[in-house]
Amino acid sequence: MSDLKQEECLILAIESSCDETSAAVIRNGTEVLSNIIASQIKSHQRFGGVVPEVASRHHVEQITICMEEALEEAGIEADDLTAVGVTYGPGLVGALLIGVSAAKAFAWANDLPLIPVNHMAGHIYAAKLVQPLVFPLMTLLVSGGHTELVYMEEDGSYQIIGETRDDAAGEAYDKVGRVLGLSYPSGKEIDVLAHLGRDTFDFPRAMIKEDNYDFSFSGLKSAFINTVHNAQQREEALSKEDLAASFQASVVEVLVSKTLRACREYPVKQLIVAGGVAANKGLREALEKAVAQELPDVTLIVPPLKLCGDNAAMIGAAAFIELEKGHLADYRLNAVPGLSFTS
Ligand code: KG4
Ligand code: ZN
Repeated sequence: MSDLKQEECLILAIESSCDETSAAVIRNGTEVLSNIIASQIKSHQRFGGVVPEVASRHHVEQITICMEEALEEAGIEADDLTAVGVTYGPGLVGALLIGVSAAKAFAWANDLPLIPVNHMAGHIYAAKLVQPLVFPLMTLLVSGGHTELVYMEEDGSYQIIGETRDDAAGEAYDKVGRVLGLSYPSGKEIDVLAHLGRDTFDFPRAMIKEDNYDFSFSGLKSAFINTVHNAQQREEALSKEDLAASFQASVVEVLVSKTLRACREYPVKQLIVAGGVAANKGLREALEKAVAQELPDVTLIVPPLKLCGDNAAMIGAAAFIELEKGHLADYRLNAVPGLSFTS
């Protein structure tokens, strides 16, 4: 055993829910000693989306390499670890199973407790790697598969007060990107184009005035696709930059407006922005401005880019909370592709 203090909690965390294989070592729930991420994006790009079978095969190839690298970079040995945390849902079942199987095998071989982690809780707890969380808090969770407003009164307690009725925000980005001929996933590229264009297309702001915290992005997506197809039929060229700027203006305005309303009506001290779409520059800028102007008592936490996309460090941060609460799994732990905060 290396010379680490015994009272330290060192968690080896594993993430394989979609198209990144990742392993990390987290100290005391807050400090990232290593965070190894093997992205498979290039293998999926030519198909325009994640191919589940291809994802599983990559995870099989990468998982042990990532785990070994995570331990090596953290400068620790298996004997130093307190527990193993792993994403068991939501996500692609075959992809999740690789991480779950690897975590179970490692936990069994090294006689370590096994901590099951909800991937979406991981996205939220990425914020704890930035600064301590103060409750109650609100999270705007925006990823490729989810768009939710989650109210938390304490660690590990999740109340979904609003969610998308159809497409997730990231999904809408990826679908309109495809129509523009951009490669998958296109959120980042649309964000860049949006900063070069102007909001000239007047796309809808769905549900913005409704007295709830739900979202809808499929109408915006259809309006965007119809605009592009109509122009193609007329052999008219439209500015990609203006299309991107108009699309992003609609997404950002709806997300910011609903999030601010939620933060006014719930007694929140912090607002966390989490998930892949939290990397969006337009969203970050708009939220920073709106929170500074309208909610001066609320602290906005937006994790750095590396912690917004899928990674195991965030899973380690969430695993620490589950460990504190004594939520452990045995070797019957299975992947739960449709896992929710209430299941
Ligand atoms: O959280 P994540 O890495 O995977 C899921 O759990 O879904 O999120 C991926 C999503 C993709 O839809 C991608 O297009 C989107 O996040 N994304 C962005 C940006 N960077 C990634 N969307 C908008 N702007 C960005 N800068
Ligand atoms: Zn994710």
